[in-house]
Amino acid sequence: MRTTTISERERLDQTSETLARLEREFTGESLFTERGPGRAVVMARGLSRTYGKGDATVHALRDVDIDITEGRLTAIMGPSGSGKSTLMHILAGLDQPTGGRVSIDGVEITRLKEKKLTQLRRDKIGFIFQSFNLLATLTADENIVLPLSLARRRADESWRRAVIEAVGLQDRLTHRPAELSGGQQQRVAVARALITRPAVLFADEPTGNLDSRTGGEVLDLLRRSVDEFGQTVIMVTHDANAASIADRVVFLKDGRIELDEDRMTRDAIYDTIKNLEVPR
Ligand SMILES: Nc1ncnc2c1ncn2[C@@H]1O[C@H](COP(=O)(O)OP(=O)(O)O)[C@@H](O)[C@H]1O
Ligand SMILES: [Mg+2]
Repeated sequence: MRTTTISERERLDQTSETLARLEREFTGESLFTERGPGRAVVMARGLSRTYGKGDATVHALRDVDIDITEGRLTAIMGPSGSGKSTLMHILAGLDQPTGGRVSIDGVEITRLKEKKLTQLRRDKIGFIFQSFNLLATLTADENIVLPLSLARRRADESWRRAVIEAVGLQDRLTHRPAELSGGQQQRVAVARALITRPAVLFADEPTGNLDSRTGGEVLDLLRRSVDEFGQTVIMVTHDANAASIADRVVFLKDGRIELDEDRMTRDAIYDTIKNLEVPR
């Protein structure tokens, strides 16, 4: 466990309290689960996912249990084909498991019908993709508030300003994606993911299309969203450098959790990956 000073913890408590209050005022909904460090925002039990039948069956996930604690950055790593994307898609309600259950923010998503699931994803989940996925015809500002526009919600002005300032895009708001660098586009995508204050933000290889310097800026931003806003982040990555900013690193192999560690150095992550890639 990482040691947390009292003041840091207090600050995190205060931040999440303020944000929970803002969110309640903002959405007019009451939250049935309390927010705060230590709570599991995502819980998965006995997850399995198979593809195909008979001799051709592929076990992409085998009996995976995982809890994702609020206000932490969790990296999911593992060799190619180990089940990272499958796990992320199932945790985010984009795919259904063959067996097992997932809940997000107290709602069991594996039982929801498509319409409710779509609504839950919109309200509770933010996504950042390798390929930015911005709408080319919209300005940076319009892209950032798009999730709210789609939900017919208005942006809370102070939150919107805080997010735009955090990603450093104040003077790029009227630019369209084609007029922005890759790093700037990904910062728009981070802002778009944060604007709804999602219960959990999923990032799938967020630095995969960026050079190391701009990739580093995006990683700093994800780290700050956790430290300053109490955001919960799950990041799938191949990159030991990216995973070294995480509070926790989960390694998959052959559809199982092979190792689950608090904060690791880049070198320790490299060594672990090397060992996992040795066939048994
Ligand atoms: N749609 C699919 N149909 C068949 N097999 C699949 C499908 N998606 C993934 N798989 C298989 O499931 C396993 C895990 O895949 P995946 O979750 O994409 O791994 P990773 O993201 O770690 O590379 C792999 O063996 C892959 O070939
Ligand atoms: Mg993958």
